[in-house]
Amino acid sequence: MVGIPMDEQGMRMDCLADTLEQLCAEGRKPRFIYTLTTYQNPTGTCMPASRKRELIALAKRYDVPLVEDNCYGDVHFEGPVAPALFAMDQDATAPAQHVYIGSLSKIFAPGVRLGYLCAAEPLFSQITGQRFDAGSNTFAAAVLAEFYRDGIASHVGHTTPALIRKRDLLLDALVANLSDQCLWSRPAGGLFLWLRLPADTDLEALRQLTAARGFYYAPGRDFHVAGKDVPYLRLAFGHVPDELISEGVGILAECITRCRTSNAARGFDTLFD
Ligand SMILES: Cc1ncc(COP(=O)(O)O)c(C=O)c1O
Repeated sequence: MVGIPMDEQGMRMDCLADTLEQLCAEGRKPRFIYTLTTYQNPTGTCMPASRKRELIALAKRYDVPLVEDNCYGDVHFEGPVAPALFAMDQDATAPAQHVYIGSLSKIFAPGVRLGYLCAAEPLFSQITGQRFDAGSNTFAAAVLAEFYRDGIASHVGHTTPALIRKRDLLLDALVANLSDQCLWSRPAGGLFLWLRLPADTDLEALRQLTAARGFYYAPGRDFHVAGKDVPYLRLAFGHVPDELISEGVGILAECITRCRTSNAARGFDTLFD
């Protein structure tokens, strides 16, 4: 895997262009470009339409298939629903080079283990021909099809308000406890936000201290392409009971303060360098 740096608007197209150019010059044509343009995991960022068009154009120019994972696309809180890359990539040659992936894990339940993909032939048959999963759960698929007979929108209409409440509780608690030390994303959908820690935080000490107090998060290194221990963490709010969110952020703030070598202000004004 080759990682492409990102910013508040998702994958950086200048870096992608440079990487594609370099790999192709070395005769290493990429098999595909994997992208999560909507409520990206772990940052919660969304790619604007102009950047999506650049991405589609770059994929075409270098003749590399796009694999679009839109598993959070239906967990939408506010603002207009952005068209998927797949919907924007509909000229005659595009579908042959584009795989669109969705999942029911984020809008129904992870345990149901059902997802779906859209792709044109021959790509579709090439992918399904590679499955070694002992068969899909067709019974669960039939139950889910019945459940969603009236469309997914009516179900997410019930679940979304609870998620918005949790996100807002988390944002309020972060403002109250961590404004001087950290920065974080404000996701318009999805199940988590991305928080930047001060550079002088002892990341391993923070993991241990928070875990000892029953507060768990996904450390930045889990999402880094080379496993680098970057000073970020992902806070997932979907599963946390409302009443624990503020208390938990208070614990996190105390632990961050204790794991730093100074009490200076955070020293950065953007989420990404
Ligand atoms: C970006 C991304 N893609 C795919 C999945 C997997 O979904 P599923 O439960 O359908 O395997 C996840 C789950 O966390 C995810 O974050």
